[in-house]
Amino acid sequence: MTTILERYQQLHPRSAALHAEALRLFPNGVTHDVRYVTPFPIYVERAAGSRKWDVDGHELIDYVMGHGALLLGHAHPAVKQAVAEQIEKGTHYGACQELELRWAGWVQRLVPSAQLVRFTSSGTEATMMAVRLARAFTGRQKLVRFQSHFHGWNDNVVGFAFPPDTTPQAAGIPIAALQNQVVVPQHDAAALRQALERGDVAAVIIEPTGASFGTIPLVRSFLSDARELTEMAGSLLIFDEVVTGFRVAPGGVQELTGIPPDITCLAKVLAGGLPGGAVVGRRDILSLLDFGDDEWNLKRRIPHPGTFNANPLSAAAGSACLSVIADGKPQQRAADLCRRLCQGMNALLRRAEVTGCAYGFSSMFHITMGYDVPPPEDGFLWNWEGRPGATVPGISRERLEALKRGMLNRGVDLMRNGGLVSAVHTEEDVDATLAAFEETLADMRREELV
Ligand SMILES: Cc1ncc(COP(=O)(O)O)c(C=O)c1O
Repeated sequence: MTTILERYQQLHPRSAALHAEALRLFPNGVTHDVRYVTPFPIYVERAAGSRKWDVDGHELIDYVMGHGALLLGHAHPAVKQAVAEQIEKGTHYGACQELELRWAGWVQRLVPSAQLVRFTSSGTEATMMAVRLARAFTGRQKLVRFQSHFHGWNDNVVGFAFPPDTTPQAAGIPIAALQNQVVVPQHDAAALRQALERGDVAAVIIEPTGASFGTIPLVRSFLSDARELTEMAGSLLIFDEVVTGFRVAPGGVQELTGIPPDITCLAKVLAGGLPGGAVVGRRDILSLLDFGDDEWNLKRRIPHPGTFNANPLSAAAGSACLSVIADGKPQQRAADLCRRLCQGMNALLRRAEVTGCAYGFSSMFHITMGYDVPPPEDGFLWNWEGRPGATVPGISRERLEALKRGMLNRGVDLMRNGGLVSAVHTEEDVDATLAAFEETLADMRREELV
């Protein structure tokens, strides 16, 4: 009987060969941490709709979906046409262009707190700018963030604390940057209050559906606590809606909850599958990017060049994408399919008597295995309300790797132990994914992994 790993190697010889070549070019042979898959990742040569095709000729149902950028799936006709038309007219003017007005106009109409917009090239740049704005606006240094919440890879937002030492540590990050971070457990309102009490916190940054695009789901009432406590402390509240923006609703979590952040970070869906990010928020805060007199420019203004800010191709793709998702129907379609997927996975886990569950929010889903966690009551939404200290779901590295390879063997590409559903996935895709999941569970059972 071949193992999951052996089958993976047999099925993907061309990917293995390209990976061997890549090892001579890139650290670990990859260009993004999430693409690091052992013993080698798959190589993809084209994609359309909910599918992508690898270099070994396999058709895959895709749930990585451009790391969350492709709410409308691969090569959506409206986005393709907008980009094709723009590319004929040039890719970079080094000048203002009307398209950036159209793009920002969509952002302003859809995102409730977007009084002003500033485009960046990525989500990482957006969180970096948000923190800088908050520090300049408040004149304070400290940033509060939450354990396991991900905000990209800039110095302000990386580093982990290794108990009993509570100071975050991270290779290559200046001590001063780490000392300016206060990392608080998600849902711990008392710890948040205590962190804010000293009056030196510029901002609190949060993934508003919970750590790592909702892998650890966030209780909605905690968002209200964060809003109230930051206001009382004179600190700003930054929503990192890089994943949730335009996805959970046209206006993101702030539309769903009615809780207004001071600053919001956007990327991914914003640019319709091309590179792009944005910082949006209160006019008085974003006005720190305005030019003024010499004294202001030297001492108070935040400079912001950036070669690819609001570049024409991203502006074209982003405007086209936002125009399609503005009515909320694609989000609803993707969320309905995601619910169906999780409910199906939970039924299969139950039938196979595997401990763990699938859960999600909107069109984002996660799978935990090996921990005795009760499945969500409705088979989809994890309800933490009333038990915020409950066990955090997770998955061991061994199971994670087997799940990823096993699902690829069966024609499905997950993003780690979860993924993102697009508006162009179909019921048939979900059913085929469930069949692949059932077979993968059986494969894992044979190897005593579940
Ligand atoms: C919540 C969140 N913030 C920020 C980022 C960083 O965005 P980017 O990869 O565009 O730099 C990510 C990326 O996945 C993210 O998930």
